[in-house]
Amino acid sequence: MSLSFEGRVVLVTGAGGGLGREYALAFAARGASVVVNDLGADTKGGGRSSAAADKVVEEIRAKGGKAVANYDSVEDAEKLIQTALDAFGRIDIVVNNAGILRDRSFARTSDLDWDLIQRVHLRGSFLVTRAAWNHMKKQNFGRIIMTASAAGIYGNFGQANYSAAKLGMLGLANTLAIEGQKYNIRCNTIAPVAGSRLTETVMPPDLVASLKPEYVAPLVLWLCHEQCQENGGLFEVGGGWIGKLRWERSRGRIVRQKNKPTTPEAVRDDWSRICDFTNSTTPANVQESLESIVTVLSRVESESEAGANPTAAAASVASGGINPSEAVGQKIPTTLFSYDHTKCIMYALGVGMSTKDSDHLRFLYEGHPDFSCLPTYGVILSQAAVMGGGLSSVPGLNIDFTKVLHGEQYLEIYKPLPTSGTLNNVATVVDVLDKGSGAVIVIDVKTYNGDELLCYGQFTVFVVGAGGFGGKRQSDKAKAPLPPPKRAPDAVVIDSTTADQAALYRLSGDWNPLHIDPSFAAMGGFKAPILHGLCTFGFAGRHVLKQFANNDPSRFKAIKVRFAKPVLPGQSLQTEMWKEGNRVYMECKVKETGAVALAGAYVDLHDTSDASPENPPQGEGLQSELVFAEIGRRVKDMGSELVKKVNAVFGWEITKDGKKAAQWTIDLKNGAGSVHRGPFTGKVDVTFTVSDENFMEVVTGKLNPQKAFFSGKLKVKGNIMLSQKLEVILKDHAKL
Ligand code: NAI
Repeated sequence: MSLSFEGRVVLVTGAGGGLGREYALAFAARGASVVVNDLGADTKGGGRSSAAADKVVEEIRAKGGKAVANYDSVEDAEKLIQTALDAFGRIDIVVNNAGILRDRSFARTSDLDWDLIQRVHLRGSFLVTRAAWNHMKKQNFGRIIMTASAAGIYGNFGQANYSAAKLGMLGLANTLAIEGQKYNIRCNTIAPVAGSRLTETVMPPDLVASLKPEYVAPLVLWLCHEQCQENGGLFEVGGGWIGKLRWERSRGRIVRQKNKPTTPEAVRDDWSRICDFTNSTTPANVQESLESIVTVLSRVESESEAGANPTAAAASVASGGINPSEAVGQKIPTTLFSYDHTKCIMYALGVGMSTKDSDHLRFLYEGHPDFSCLPTYGVILSQAAVMGGGLSSVPGLNIDFTKVLHGEQYLEIYKPLPTSGTLNNVATVVDVLDKGSGAVIVIDVKTYNGDELLCYGQFTVFVVGAGGFGGKRQSDKAKAPLPPPKRAPDAVVIDSTTADQAALYRLSGDWNPLHIDPSFAAMGGFKAPILHGLCTFGFAGRHVLKQFANNDPSRFKAIKVRFAKPVLPGQSLQTEMWKEGNRVYMECKVKETGAVALAGAYVDLHDTSDASPENPPQGEGLQSELVFAEIGRRVKDMGSELVKKVNAVFGWEITKDGKKAAQWTIDLKNGAGSVHRGPFTGKVDVTFTVSDENFMEVVTGKLNPQKAFFSGKLKVKGNIMLSQKLEVILKDHAKL
């Protein structure tokens, strides 16, 4: 279906020529009624003429389209919107396009050069958009375009005034996107490139001729169509190409240690890592941006003083070799790991799940009512800490990282893994062993969601040729592999891997070329690229989950394996299982050769009747109910007083195990106030979403509400400032 604008009223500012004219023609050609605004200035903002706008209106009408002209400056914004209302009765779409240039090197930029540019571009866009805003809000529809420029995004010599205004418009758009969201108002920003009178002085003539404005208009039309839900986006567009931009942030470095001053020297010494974009993240909103910063506060406080001491690290690299007394207890530098449902699904496919098995759908389809993340995905969450290269900065571990093999893996899950999130890992070297032919390094990784411990992984890695440093051979910290019982297995599952199993699995984050590149595999002495040990681990883990836990991730407690022999993609895996109480011993073989790939392996399950804190009994009342009942009593006692003080309606969504469990309304706006279960029929001023547990922690003062907000435990929609007023009703609940 082609995109129609029939019934829509569009204002394009500066539509007398260049890009604006093209937008006006394109909207009109698809049925829109268009206000063609242009004050007919010269490129520097001087002079006025109605001719430019009139000509475009005539062009539109000649083709049977609907258009009226407006000759006011964007600074007279109300008049522009009034023209739309007078002629067509409404305003749906605003394209802020009017623009002038007053290029000067910065030192020569006069007050006037600065002010005129800000007035037309930034202030003009603000005024025009504000004049349209309430109309859009009322009709629950609006589409707004801001026109930025590469000069603003990247800077450009001689355009300080223009760059500042253009990027100011992006900031404006970012916030309008948030404020307009619930009214179906979408605001996006474009940075176009097109031949026009503005660019003819800086571009060669043939480029001006070939970069046609008509190549830009289709993006503007799409962003302004009711079908398009894009919001807060920034796009570069020109010559028929369109690309989207976003912010990228390096992993960064913590330059502060507990109880020590933060110094500029620490910043200098970590500079290259602060600026290193390996494994970068792309925060998309203030909450995501602040999350990692707030996390740092608790991380630094929980760190031991011996952690990440740069002087010790420098000394060890200089001396070379392995020094267990220096290495043990060291923390591996911080890593954050962000993921969403697509990564959970990709992982599930990577470990061989298939839609052929209807039981697997809950791991493959985000719309499934029980959509879940496979428990063994926990290793992906934590491996970033071990594989991110941080190990090389640990003092006392001066080793050749090309000689490192993954020997064993343990994983324990404390909560069913969320299907998305930004988690942080704390990784510690807990032991270093001397096995003669090599060294064994045991690393514990704790993965947190905010302050909550989600899972614990233990990585045991073998460093070929690094032994003989005179260390101990055994560790009391290492989780030991356990042999299976000496009887026939209780269950056997045979499953095939595909030729592309490793190619698919690596997309979950293990990019070692050993698993994809034949020449790299040959260097390691393998005939062909081998399957990831952790891929086989994932297969075996889900075999047990299905066989003995009905594919219920909340029953999965822990898994341990030793990687014994490699598997080639395409071979079949045979998982043999022995159930003894809540432990399922297992051995995973390559069916074709009988070689044991995973040895000494087991999975621990939660008993179905297990009522430990990790596995709370289902079907019991929510703790928060008591609190709402108490608030209800209070509102009854002093409702009218509270209504006067607070004057707002609060909505609550209480979740349990990641699912919506209850909804409450605290109405302190109408009548004498009331508290009731369920949603509110009218307008709710602010809605909080929080788990039953976190709600209790906040209410009992154990969790600071601001911290809960920044760590994502407490989500707030609506007028966030009103949250402060909640104190009035929540305070003194510590007694409960
Ligand atoms: P243009 O000069 O052909 O179009 C701008 C129009 O705005 C003119 O018709 C002018 O009369 C009008 N105008 C100026 N001041 C006004 C005011 N106060 N009120 C109402 N109308 C006013 O230039 P072009 O290239 O079509 O530019 C359109 C927009 O795209 C501008 O905002 C410009 O900064 C931006 N842009 C253009 C690029 C390009 O490669 N052409 C590159 C980056 C940004």
